[in-house]
Amino acid sequence: MKAISVFGVFVADLCFISNTIPEKGQTVLGSQHIIGPGGKGSNQAIAAAKLDGSVNFITKIGKDKNGEMALALYRDLGMHTACIIQDENHSTGVAGIMVNEKTGDNAINIIPGAAGTLTNDDIDSNLNFIEVSEIFLTQLETPYKVTSHALKKAKEKGLATILNPAPACKIDDNDFKLIDFFTPNETEAEFYLNKKIESKKDIKSASEEFLKKGIKNVVMTLGEKGCYFANEKESFFINAFKLREPVLDTTGAGDAFNGALAVGLSKDLDIKEALTFANKVAAISTTKQGAAASMPSLEDLKNY
Ligand code: RIB
Repeated sequence: MKAISVFGVFVADLCFISNTIPEKGQTVLGSQHIIGPGGKGSNQAIAAAKLDGSVNFITKIGKDKNGEMALALYRDLGMHTACIIQDENHSTGVAGIMVNEKTGDNAINIIPGAAGTLTNDDIDSNLNFIEVSEIFLTQLETPYKVTSHALKKAKEKGLATILNPAPACKIDDNDFKLIDFFTPNETEAEFYLNKKIESKKDIKSASEEFLKKGIKNVVMTLGEKGCYFANEKESFFINAFKLREPVLDTTGAGDAFNGALAVGLSKDLDIKEALTFANKVAAISTTKQGAAASMPSLEDLKNY
């Protein structure tokens, strides 16, 4: 199996659960408060590790209680921790997450903390971990110029790159050419193309526009509608996995999908199989509370 390098952010998720997500100016009485591991990069690395992926996670955390939570979790999962930088001058990041317990929807505000101070040198000093991998997975919570540098280095070393463009922020035109798999959801795709994506036709034409930017493969995640894949040779929709239980919390579902896609590719599954696998992992993650805490293992998948 091919090794996977993940570059991204760990934060402690402070989750506030109630029967509605407060609107501007509104105060609501919640029913539960959970503190757990989060951050898109870390969630994706954990998702991949729980599916038996061989994962190197590159990040920066503080020397504090939340940083310890991350390290303890990685050690428990048998993940390599050698490329996790600990910075005593900055705190580990945090995210405030409002979850609607009736629908599982959320609203998130993330402060990357120590991971927001990552530099190009941090990538260069971990190049040995990147070059022993064949797949590179990243998002947009780290400083953009460092993400861009990391993508360039991964490409130079011949890795297949996956960019999960979340949270959506400007991507330099030249960087689109460094992306082998681009995995926006519909909202993120709308941000990049500056137009509404509502119908199947919109999804297809949006994917064509992304391919024209130099991306090799587009995977648009569509929530309860599954996902859409397109490259120069083929394009198709894949339905979402049908759950037996109701959706409890969608936080981290996109991360589950991306981590599982990386594992599928690392096992040389064909793209349809890899996406079907990723859809299943993402769907099952929504039946549990939390982000990293909801990532299913291979055993969970087998028993489902
Ligand atoms: O994708 C979900 C994640 O986004 C949460 O864990 C939160 O930390 C934010 O990074």
